[in-house]
Amino acid sequence: MMYDGDSRVFFLDCDPGIDDALALAYLLARRTPLVGVGSVAGNVDAARGAENARRLLRLFDRGDIPVSVGIDAPDGAHVDDTAASFHGRNGLGGVSLPPGLDDVGSSSTPDTLRSLARTYGDRLHIIATGPLTNLAQVLADDPDFGNRVGSMTVMGGAFSVPGNVTPWAEANIASDPTAAALVVQSDWNRLTFVPIDLTYTHLFSRKDQTAVRDLDRPELETLCHIVDFYYNAYQDRFLGRYIPLHDPLAAAVAVGDVVVETATRGQVTVCVDRGERRGQTTLSHTTDGKITVVSTVDRQCARVLIDTLAAHWR
Ligand code: RIB
Ligand code: CA
Repeated sequence: MMYDGDSRVFFLDCDPGIDDALALAYLLARRTPLVGVGSVAGNVDAARGAENARRLLRLFDRGDIPVSVGIDAPDGAHVDDTAASFHGRNGLGGVSLPPGLDDVGSSSTPDTLRSLARTYGDRLHIIATGPLTNLAQVLADDPDFGNRVGSMTVMGGAFSVPGNVTPWAEANIASDPTAAALVVQSDWNRLTFVPIDLTYTHLFSRKDQTAVRDLDRPELETLCHIVDFYYNAYQDRFLGRYIPLHDPLAAAVAVGDVVVETATRGQVTVCVDRGERRGQTTLSHTTDGKITVVSTVDRQCARVLIDTLAAHWR
């Protein structure tokens, strides 16, 4: 929700990616003041992610929002077949969108983040729905960055459930555990994790998809077509009937449309060993813990997503 006097601006650092695309559509539909979109290697490489973001912004007639190219594969990480099996080789479920308008800005995502932090300070709120490589790059040069921006909300981590790329690690963390470790070791005004412990309980059914299709908008028909691939990718787990709203939920928590009901504040650690537990996230309850790991929220993300799209495109 945006309210009078709300001076917040938002930056989406993403790896589109089908659920990233849903998160972007949601943020645009609610007219979130989005001062930029960055890309990071994860579901696809950073260059492809930036092009996908530009194409999605063109689809929703928001080519005015600048897109920057982030860090490509960090040391040891790579875009693998698992990601392609969930998001398609092109990251958008194999759906080919018209090319993005204008050229991607010359400023990299880390440089863009540094510049936006100088411009907006604690008005800037970062939504990270991909690996944390870009943020780690910023923090490495500027350890106080997290204290100067308003907040960061991360879609990532698996704390009391198995991981989704290994038995211990969630995809965004597993793609670059070293980056995630630096992020959680840094000071932040406010750092919130929306982990798969929660996101796998926020599902988007085929009926929900039909409700979006029934809004009878060409942009949304294309979005639903992109999403079709995700249903098939989750055939084993959800029988092709549901998809998890990982990134849209993190975005909805970040902007406040979905309100945190229960959470744990503590210190998060990320396993960076090269063993089987690489990328595992652990939460230790500490009284001075500065990281919030969300456990429950006040409403279903699917309802918020559909209502937001309908309100904008009705
Ligand atoms: O584990 C889910 C996360 O990994 C989501 O951000 C999805 O887009 C993938 O990047
Ligand atoms: Ca993502």
